[in-house]
Amino acid sequence: MSNDPLFTPLCRLLGIELPIIQAGMAGGPTTPELVAAVSEAGGLGTLGAAYMEPEAIREAVRAIRRLTAKPFSVNLFVAPMRDDYSRYAEVQPVIDRIGAQLGVPGRAGTEPTPTPERLERQFAVLLEEGIPVISTAFGPLPEALGQAAREAGRVVTTMVTTVEEARLAEAAGCDVLIAQGSDAGGHRGTFDTERHPYGALVGTFSLVPQIADRANVPVVAAGGVMDGRGLAAALLLGAQGAQLGTRFLTAAESGAHAAYKEALLVGSEDDTVVTRWFSGRPARSLRNRFIEDAERSGIAPMPFPSHNTATGPLRQAAAKQNNADYMSLWTGQALRLLTRDTPAAHIVRDIAEQARGLLSSGSRPN
Ligand SMILES: Cc1cc2nc3c(=O)[nH]c(=O)nc-3n(C[C@H](O)[C@H](O)[C@H](O)COP(=O)(O)O)c2cc1C
Repeated sequence: MSNDPLFTPLCRLLGIELPIIQAGMAGGPTTPELVAAVSEAGGLGTLGAAYMEPEAIREAVRAIRRLTAKPFSVNLFVAPMRDDYSRYAEVQPVIDRIGAQLGVPGRAGTEPTPTPERLERQFAVLLEEGIPVISTAFGPLPEALGQAAREAGRVVTTMVTTVEEARLAEAAGCDVLIAQGSDAGGHRGTFDTERHPYGALVGTFSLVPQIADRANVPVVAAGGVMDGRGLAAALLLGAQGAQLGTRFLTAAESGAHAAYKEALLVGSEDDTVVTRWFSGRPARSLRNRFIEDAERSGIAPMPFPSHNTATGPLRQAAAKQNNADYMSLWTGQALRLLTRDTPAAHIVRDIAEQARGLLSSGSRPN
């Protein structure tokens, strides 16, 4: 095993065979079946649990355990969940105007919906259920939770988008740095979105070696890795593995909405934008009617999590109506490398085989 170029120290740390992490993707794509299939295939599956109630996390974790005895991870958002609705009167009418096209009743003039603060209760379930790998976005775990994770012997992975964030995450005790380049789909992991309203937008190829040169813990590349070429490149850049989100969205086990999958499968590398209009935090999505209409208003969205809560009814209506024009279509830039309905185990196996071939022989992919 020690001659295998894919068996990096990260694999030993996480108890996995292949340095392939399926990203936790909040909002439904990461079904227990997807998470378990990736872990069973030798990678690390991750449940995207940020928006889940604690008891729903427990149920999903138990469903995963019924499918695999291998390690897996659960991902949470570490962001202050304090609502700031100070600009509700200005922003809600824009959301209402767009929502009217889907028949969503307007909410301007009514009380805004409070966002539940769930992190501590979610984290408690992760500890109780013995989750071996805890993954965070938007920042490292708060000190008390980090301490509890260490005492319980859990591995903590934190997504970072700059060298400075990597330093902060390491100082906070995180065990693995997920270096997220600007190619990546979904939310930017950037900690301080006041300084970087659209997130730090450093490409994966630039970010990974700069973090790897300075880190004392394993680094994982995220953003644009779709196949064995991407994994091999990540390892050559100094990462010990790769985290893939977009690649698994159209896997057979993915829980992504059918209309969302279809939009991805016909999308191109230049069809995505980083927008704050779905959640209040910057995230990379396919450009669609919602983003265009909202940005035409010329006003800024509210901050996360309030804006995310405010757009919820509109996004739910779009999903019910199979209307991808108004859904959040999170995706990275490497869209044309997607495949339709491939079982996740095949994706993992194909990536590993191709990367191993490239790294062992030094041969070119074509
Ligand atoms: C649909 C989608 C949802 C995502 N949700 C989360 C999330 O809940 N938590 C998180 O840490 N990262 C999330 N990400 C980002 C991934 O962790 C990762 O950085 C990204 O997918 C890597 O780029 P790629 O999409 O090009 O593979 C999401 C990505 C996508 C595509």
